[in-house]
Amino acid sequence: MPNSKGYRGVSTQAAAKHYDVSDEFFRIWLGPSLAYACGLWTDGADTLEKAQLRKEEYLLSQAGIRPGIRVLDVGCGYGGEMRRMVEEHDVESVTGITLSRAAVDWTQNLGIPRTDVRLENWIDHRPSAPYDAIICIEAMEHFARPGMSGRAKIQGYREFFKRCRSWMRPEGRLVVQTISWGHRFPLDVDILRDLYLATTVYPECNPSYLGELQAASDGLFDLVALRNDFDHYSRTLEVWLDNLRADRDRAAELVGPRKAEDFERCMALAVQAFADGWFYLHRLTFRPVPKPTKPARRFLINNVLARDSLPTPRFLQPNR
Ligand SMILES: C[S@@+](CC[C@H](N)C(=O)[O-])C[C@H]1O[C@@H](n2cnc3c(N)ncnc32)[C@H](O)[C@@H]1O
Repeated sequence: MPNSKGYRGVSTQAAAKHYDVSDEFFRIWLGPSLAYACGLWTDGADTLEKAQLRKEEYLLSQAGIRPGIRVLDVGCGYGGEMRRMVEEHDVESVTGITLSRAAVDWTQNLGIPRTDVRLENWIDHRPSAPYDAIICIEAMEHFARPGMSGRAKIQGYREFFKRCRSWMRPEGRLVVQTISWGHRFPLDVDILRDLYLATTVYPECNPSYLGELQAASDGLFDLVALRNDFDHYSRTLEVWLDNLRADRDRAAELVGPRKAEDFERCMALAVQAFADGWFYLHRLTFRPVPKPTKPARRFLINNVLARDSLPTPRFLQPNR
């Protein structure tokens, strides 16, 4: 629900409706890593597990993860990245926040040392000391809901970027992996029906446009690396879909036949949606700008004063 400070992102009820259904159900199709995000595939023979590991390592290296640092994982899910940062990269501490009670219970039960997992919205987060790195893997899709104007979405994302910047050391890194709207949109009744179904399976979700993220981070962060791996999501989803189909009866037992079928239909649609570019999969690395500037001032400089086509006011013309 919106409050005086703006939209808070997906409600806890909607998040629970999607995430808190059954850990075993998710394990059936996500596989043992329980990574609920797009992998990073190589050409030729590869497996989901390897693609998930490669993705984790790519994002962690972009974030500059190294021994002794403090990290925040926004939307930590089942804690895969948290475990990797502690066990393989010897970080000093990782704080993980999520809106899923089931994910918190699961991750706390793993007993990973030097981790703190909380059921907390990033809007309510108050760090005890600055972070060296922040990662946010496929949580941003929940920061806007269908029907929000571009302006309102940018406002919400900007609040996220502002908070991240204020929580981070000046030399820190913010790494985001997120689904974005792509270059095409299908006009086919069956597809639109399944897209509508997706809004019920993933309630209150609305991906960003890349331009919205650029506008929202302008003057706060420099975007220093960007990949668009939408075909990688199609491949990830193909494996998820095969896994779910192979264990369809068990899935239906766990969450009910209707829900299991809806997930299956959405995944089948998403395989096509990512292959055909209706959606993109962006992996973005941000570095804080040394001195934040207001977007309005930058807009003025970039778009008005610097435009050749506009007549220069007389008082600004040289040698008059
Ligand atoms: C698709 S899952 C990805 C989980 C994990 N990062 C992974 O790669 O497996 C999205 C996660 O974002 C969390 N999330 C969504 N909105 C959030 C918010 N406003 N504050 C904190 N976590 C949020 C959800 O609870 C969920 O854990």
